[in-house]
Amino acid sequence: MRIKGIFVRNQPMNRQKAIQLLIDRLHARYYLEIGVFDGRCFMEIRAPYKVAVDPDMKITFRYKLHAIRKRVENLRNQYKHLTSDAYFASLQSSSPGRLFDVIFIDGLHTYSQTFIDIIHALQFLNPKGAIVLHDINPDTEALALPASSRSAAMQAVGKSGGWCGDSWKAFHHLIACNRSLNQLDLFTLNCDFGLGVIFPKEEFNRNDWKGFSPESHYENLPYEVLDRNRADVIKLVEPDFINQYLNSKQLKSV
Ligand SMILES: C[S@@+](CC[C@H](N)C(=O)[O-])C[C@H]1O[C@@H](n2cnc3c(N)ncnc32)[C@H](O)[C@@H]1O
Repeated sequence: MRIKGIFVRNQPMNRQKAIQLLIDRLHARYYLEIGVFDGRCFMEIRAPYKVAVDPDMKITFRYKLHAIRKRVENLRNQYKHLTSDAYFASLQSSSPGRLFDVIFIDGLHTYSQTFIDIIHALQFLNPKGAIVLHDINPDTEALALPASSRSAAMQAVGKSGGWCGDSWKAFHHLIACNRSLNQLDLFTLNCDFGLGVIFPKEEFNRNDWKGFSPESHYENLPYEVLDRNRADVIKLVEPDFINQYLNSKQLKSV
């Protein structure tokens, strides 16, 4: 990239780049984002079909128009003003069922809701697709504070700023479930507050994942558990690992 005669190094990996890399490499067509806020990620993602889910969506009409002018595919975007639970329930009852190729989970940042979102997302994921989660690697205890919303967290710590919540526990719980089933490849990229990545393996059977639900053992884990051993607890890897993984897999299109 060149700005006013100065060469600027490529920006580091972040959620938008990782999601776009997956969409491009998998030739994904259907993209779902849970928790979109003002659309700064959702609107910039390039995919033929995109669904945004958020009960308190802040995407302006102006931004929607701008996105359509930039890429006409954005005309097809669906905006669902619903909680993730309500949206997944609506998918359950719709026929024919829709599978998504890439799903980004970035909604309510509590352990239990994130875990439920993952389990639901696995039910509607193309087995050749992938799931990405945001905020899996909070690097301070304040960032990881369990709370029902960003504003509740800010009130509790008495300041404003970033907040990840305790979604890391949901990813850790998923890693534990996968120890017996061994149907998923899982890792967290060390960038953008931690991007959890989930790839179904050949053996993936969505029915095997239906019975899992949040557990008090994981809910009550202290932050020190994460801080002591991130490589084990959330399978933390360097951001470039996603390229190595995709290259090693010789992925077929979804
Ligand atoms: C961190 S923001 C999302 C940011 C966005 N994905 C991005 O990358 O810029 C979290 C969003 O989740 C939404 N949210 C909260 N509870 C939710 C739920 N139960 N289901 C879906 N979205 C939810 C909030 O309204 C908020 O807009």
